[in-house]
Amino acid sequence: MPKVGILRLVASRARNHYRENFLRLERKLFHDKSDQGGGFFDAYPRFYETSIIGARNRLNKRYRALIEPNEDIIRDKSVLDIASHDGRWSFAAYKAGSRYVLGIEARHHLVQHSQDNMRMYGVPEGKVEFVLGDVFEKLDQLEPGRFDTVFCLGFFYHTMHHMLLLNKIGHLRPSHIILDTCIDLDPDSFVAVQLERVAHESAGAVPDSGDPERILVGSPTRSALELMLASAGYPSIKYFDWHRAGIRRWDNLIEYHRGLRVSLVAVRKPA
Ligand SMILES: C[S@@+](CC[C@H](N)C(=O)[O-])C[C@H]1O[C@@H](n2cnc3c(N)ncnc32)[C@H](O)[C@@H]1O
Repeated sequence: MPKVGILRLVASRARNHYRENFLRLERKLFHDKSDQGGGFFDAYPRFYETSIIGARNRLNKRYRALIEPNEDIIRDKSVLDIASHDGRWSFAAYKAGSRYVLGIEARHHLVQHSQDNMRMYGVPEGKVEFVLGDVFEKLDQLEPGRFDTVFCLGFFYHTMHHMLLLNKIGHLRPSHIILDTCIDLDPDSFVAVQLERVAHESAGAVPDSGDPERILVGSPTRSALELMLASAGYPSIKYFDWHRAGIRRWDNLIEYHRGLRVSLVAVRKPA
């Protein structure tokens, strides 16, 4: 292998190996208790409690990235929320004026939290619904044309089946996909693979056949992500610019700060 190739391989391995430790350290360093931010979820604080990934600053800043700039493709629209967790983004979509929201979530207790959260915050019956199950199975049971906008938030890097997922979404023909995912920073087009523990509440929930406790997942590079979206029929992509969003507090947002996580809207190619 040429020298440059070896160096890149070593750098990539080292980056992946130490990434989690660096992120943990950075999260501690950036935490600033004197500024508690504020935002959409402060009026709905149950979402800080019904998940282990409910940090206040993170949820409120993600709202500013994922919901606020996209109100025109949420208001009066039918929204499908993939990996809906405790119902946070389904609820946010409802509050932003969605006609109907369906969340798909594989963890039973999270579906229960979602339903409780909707009830506690007075969402009328039938406006926001949740189905329990594997997104790869449930997507096949939905009729094409039923949804205008698909949320794929915090899930794309918890699977190895990226194209299967995008093709199943594409089959439903939504005009927009709002996608938020961790990526690998390498300039080439590939998917960086790793194992994660199924027991973790935010991880992939359906293990591979060889190991009931762990699941193989992959973070695409930016270039791979764009190729995948284009191949599924969503070639036009607009990224949310986290660095021009006026954010001063980056605690619990370090992946976004370092470009290791992106938020975007992908638009369907005209027929
Ligand atoms: C990191 S959380 C993201 C939660 C939320 N969408 C967000 O962005 O804040 C990933 C979620 O995907 C769910 N999940 C994992 N594998 C799934 C699958 N195969 N089908 C449906 N949901 C799944 C997990 O249970 C978890 O709630």
